[in-house]
Amino acid sequence: MDEMRAALFDRFGPPDVLYEGTVPVPGIKPGEVLVRVHASSVNGGELHGRAGRVRLVTGRRFPQRTGLDFAGEIAEVGSAVTEPLKGTAVWGILPRRMGSMAEYVAVRPRQTSAAPAGLTPVEAVSVLAGGTTGITALRDKAGLRPGERLLVRGASGGVGSVAVQLGKVYGAHVTALAGARNRDFVHALGADEVLDHRTTRPTELGPFDVILDTVGTRHRDYRKLLAPGGRMVAIAFDPGHIGRSLGYILASAVHGSRRVRFFSGNPRHDLLAELARMAETGRVRPVVDTVRPLAELAAAHAALEAGGVRGKHVVRIL
Ligand SMILES: NC(=O)c1ccc[n+]([C@@H]2O[C@H](COP(=O)([O-])OP(=O)(O)OC[C@H]3O[C@@H](n4cnc5c(N)ncnc54)[C@H](OP(=O)(O)O)[C@@H]3O)[C@@H](O)[C@H]2O)c1
Repeated sequence: MDEMRAALFDRFGPPDVLYEGTVPVPGIKPGEVLVRVHASSVNGGELHGRAGRVRLVTGRRFPQRTGLDFAGEIAEVGSAVTEPLKGTAVWGILPRRMGSMAEYVAVRPRQTSAAPAGLTPVEAVSVLAGGTTGITALRDKAGLRPGERLLVRGASGGVGSVAVQLGKVYGAHVTALAGARNRDFVHALGADEVLDHRTTRPTELGPFDVILDTVGTRHRDYRKLLAPGGRMVAIAFDPGHIGRSLGYILASAVHGSRRVRFFSGNPRHDLLAELARMAETGRVRPVVDTVRPLAELAAAHAALEAGGVRGKHVVRIL
């Protein structure tokens, strides 16, 4: 077992720069485990990485890898690792580096937890990044409380489709902005109100106690919809205007009481385990849009880029 299949690209560009190639299986350090990846999903940010819109983060060395989340099984444990044991079904997110669209990843055990029992790897990975991001945003950053009014922008996407479900778990009244064709999908996730993001002007909305923005544009317009004491969490930047979005988020901390919160997720064991319990008990349900083999990752990127996703485009790697 020296080599493995992995998604690679040799230049920045459209989805078809992606191809299935061969790379060495990662070696593990004493404190790491080797995970046989069974499924990974396409996250919105990975499109920006592949297109070369975030070169400061990705660097310019090729070939580059892609994929952050994974659900699979422990294939090998380092000499200093006591748990998890070989054969355990786990899930996790790579810490600030790409590469889970591959047969194996090497990670520290704290970057994993037991995968949700009763879910297939494809189902599990569909809620993974959205769930950890949603819990961090709504519970930890916004302190969402029962009865509060929540607005989710980008409600049909990978993060939004789980955030809507979490909003209901936390007892909020959820208003969702999504594309018109996804209205029924977002209602079925539990949203109390679903509005078309193409025809609804921000001025027609609000007030809200908490706003989760997964889109990255018009932060100023949406922040105005906050009720006194309201909190806005923005997890995305407008890729065309990263400096401007970042500047606005930072400025909001200085000017006015309604600071826009931002974070970059790096979920660890406890958060992963908590999300696994939510998924096992059905409080968070899978959001699988399509399933493709690794060789068709380019088609999955193209589909997400085309718009109208319902949850996640998942890649099965086993
Ligand atoms: N900070 C963090 O820790 C963190 C974690 C995860 C993700 N992110 C970032 O969050 C962003 C979203 O990620 P994702 O995986 O959820 O992406 P995604 O699956 O592509 O979802 C984006 C969603 O936004 C919707 N949308 C586009 N324009 C909209 C608008 N003007 N108003 C309302 N909805 C709109 C899309 O709907 P239509 O297709 O119907 O237009 C789509 O459902 C990415 O930029 C990603 O990098 C950050």
